[in-house]
Amino acid sequence: MKKILFVSSEIHPLIKTGGLADVAGSLPIALDKLGQDVRIVLPYYGAIKLSQTPEYRCTIRVNNTDINILETPLPNSSLTIWLIDAPLLFSGEGNPYSDEFGNAWHNNAERFALFCRIAVEIAQNRAHLHWKADIVHCNDWQSGLVPALLTQEPNRPSTVFTIHNMAYQGVFSKETFYQLNLSNQLWHQNALEYHGMMSFIKGGIACADHITTVSPTYALEIQTAEFGYGLEGLLHHRHHELNGIINGIDLEQWHPEKDNRIPQNYNLHSLNKKADNKSALQQRVALPVDNSIPIIGLIGRLVDQKGIDLVIDALENILKLPVQFILLGSGDKGFEHRLKNFAHNYPDKCAVTIGYNEDFAHLIEAGADMFLMPSRFEPCGLNQLYSQCYGTLPIVRKTGGLADTIIDALPQSIADHTASGFVFEESSTGAMIETIKRALLLYDNKPIWEQLQKNAMGKDFSWENSAQKYIEVYNTL
Ligand code: ADP
Ligand code: GLC
Repeated sequence: MKKILFVSSEIHPLIKTGGLADVAGSLPIALDKLGQDVRIVLPYYGAIKLSQTPEYRCTIRVNNTDINILETPLPNSSLTIWLIDAPLLFSGEGNPYSDEFGNAWHNNAERFALFCRIAVEIAQNRAHLHWKADIVHCNDWQSGLVPALLTQEPNRPSTVFTIHNMAYQGVFSKETFYQLNLSNQLWHQNALEYHGMMSFIKGGIACADHITTVSPTYALEIQTAEFGYGLEGLLHHRHHELNGIINGIDLEQWHPEKDNRIPQNYNLHSLNKKADNKSALQQRVALPVDNSIPIIGLIGRLVDQKGIDLVIDALENILKLPVQFILLGSGDKGFEHRLKNFAHNYPDKCAVTIGYNEDFAHLIEAGADMFLMPSRFEPCGLNQLYSQCYGTLPIVRKTGGLADTIIDALPQSIADHTASGFVFEESSTGAMIETIKRALLLYDNKPIWEQLQKNAMGKDFSWENSAQKYIEVYNTL
């Protein structure tokens, strides 16, 4: 049994902007079930609304400031979350990284440096919590200073740094580095220095004892210039200490048999009931209620990563096909605007909801027939996993975790019952539309379509296997 401090800047259901929250809200539970002692540390953001007031645990002094640590349970588990209560830095409304208007918090370096310092204090048992970590498991740039700071400590725990997305690096000026009062020793090519700037993610990649990322394919991709954002050399240099572990999903929340947010539960033996969710979805977005028209769903952050520009460029042609298109997302204002125009111009075929809505995301997964994910890169991706679990066949570009989790419906894979979606390689509207057409042809062949749904729904997406792989990593350290 290892004592693991899990450091994450978001955790579902307390606060979420994307898949990191889903992982942080479910991997620790899986590790706990496998006998590990896991504690979680998270900033106490203004946007976190708890049903019960968190309990005061202690006050610690870092960087000449007194900070309270509060404690709250991770819902649906026996796990403890330690909340860093620093209202001057974290009480703003908005999301963990930006204000209500989408502007990055001006003091993000200071906010997450404090977060990292406190994680180090907790890990080293200097926070009066009577608990010392064996392993500190950090996630993404917001926690990148932790492995770097710990290299300067005697008797330190081992560190694992998981990359969920190389595109966000936490890069700040050299002045910021000095303002943060960090040791000069960390201003080094093998630590935080990155082309004359300070990089939080580099702290994790250069200093952690082990690096993981969230799929085997992405682990290879980030060692190339196309996906490594300038850190491919360092990642390649460390490839012996780098591996990809695919994310699992929380089957208590994301399983059509148990999901209490959808009108009709179903499983692979009662697929006909999925149609009730489809009509509920069509009603909700005011599209014609018709079970025979295939629905293509899309949920996600409307950013370049997700290939939204491809979707927009292809949408006119997609809407010429016999389909309905239903999108839920928010992000780039230009994308939002163009997508809303389509919904306006094609009121019978296209519905666009701008915003963030968990319940609606579940209804789309349950009610759509296909799920479009033409990502330019995708470290793991969770929606294609949810989609398979719900028998909503994903149409994806072959990259990162999408390449690792979906078997393209081709004659051989259809025959041997492994096919679970549709895959295209080239990042182009042509390749995407051809693949949508390929999916539509099979949609018209009900026995084959149902078999594909069953193949997808029968796959094991539970966390257990992946959590076991993390434990294997911890055990090597
Ligand atoms: P990423 O972390 O890159 O955004 P993932 O596929 O790993 O991509 O995870 C995205 C998570 O966020 C999924 O749980 C998805 O359902 C959710 N999500 C994204 N956008 C929205 C939205 N607008 N409304 C509800 N859920 C959303
Ligand atoms: C990131 C990635 C996504 C991944 C998620 C959780 O946000 O963009 O692909 O699924 O983290 O690991």
